[in-house]
Amino acid sequence: MKIAIYKNLFDPITKNHIKTAKKVLKQENADLVCFYIDVTGNDDIYHREKMIKLAIGPYRKFVYINNYQRLMKRNKENQYFFVTDEESDKQSALLKAGNLAVVKKKVRSYIFNNGIYAREIMSSYLSKNRFKHCLSVADLCLKIARGNRLDEYKAYLIGLYHDIAKDFSKEELLRYMNIEKPYELQYSHKVWHQYVGYYYLKHHCHLKDKEMLKAIRHHCLGDDNGIYSKLIFVADKLDPTRDYDSAVEIEIACRDINRAFETVKKQNREYLESRGIV
Ligand SMILES: [Fe+2]
Ligand SMILES: [Fe+2]
Repeated sequence: MKIAIYKNLFDPITKNHIKTAKKVLKQENADLVCFYIDVTGNDDIYHREKMIKLAIGPYRKFVYINNYQRLMKRNKENQYFFVTDEESDKQSALLKAGNLAVVKKKVRSYIFNNGIYAREIMSSYLSKNRFKHCLSVADLCLKIARGNRLDEYKAYLIGLYHDIAKDFSKEELLRYMNIEKPYELQYSHKVWHQYVGYYYLKHHCHLKDKEMLKAIRHHCLGDDNGIYSKLIFVADKLDPTRDYDSAVEIEIACRDINRAFETVKKQNREYLESRGIV
């Protein structure tokens, strides 16, 4: 058997990696391509392994291996050769810069559902200040979740993702609104990003968690009673980087999210009405 050892960072595996592996099978007349993570030091490769397995799943002649030396020692009758590929590493970097199209849908879904590269990706979608706001809201979500015995990591990711569509252009928001919520166009464009963020995360990022999606869909208006919807609504409004003192409300939210929600919602309703936003 002729076996290719495909050594790469696969951080993460992209469509280009698959293309390279297919080319190797064809051009080198190989029987098998073994995907091996070229790990340096004590890098945690748990998620990279999972993503490789998802991406190569449909291909009979692609396998994942974590030790090629052992394979070569045990099966000396095979013919081995190495494949290196710097171009695909560049494609992996593009993913972290927000180009989601470079990875397969399943990998994209894994990335968003597990929050892999979440900070890098979000920073590519947002202005510097907006990103700072999202980081701060994510930290506050985690803190409130801890106080209310909710899933802390889920809460953190909701906080990080909630404004993903906030810096989309008005034209882009309008395009998505016409698909997702045409009858809500009556609202100020300032709240459109909650619907568009939901739509984008669901259909482009393949985020699956229904509570997370619902929370993001209602985060501006606070018009949902799900516990994570209440949590992001409160954390977004009480974000300590906003220019007013919200320490007392934050303390209440960490003890009783339902109570804090009622208080913040009332304050917010008054504010939005006074500005003609709803
Ligand atoms: Fe928002
Ligand atoms: Fe926000």
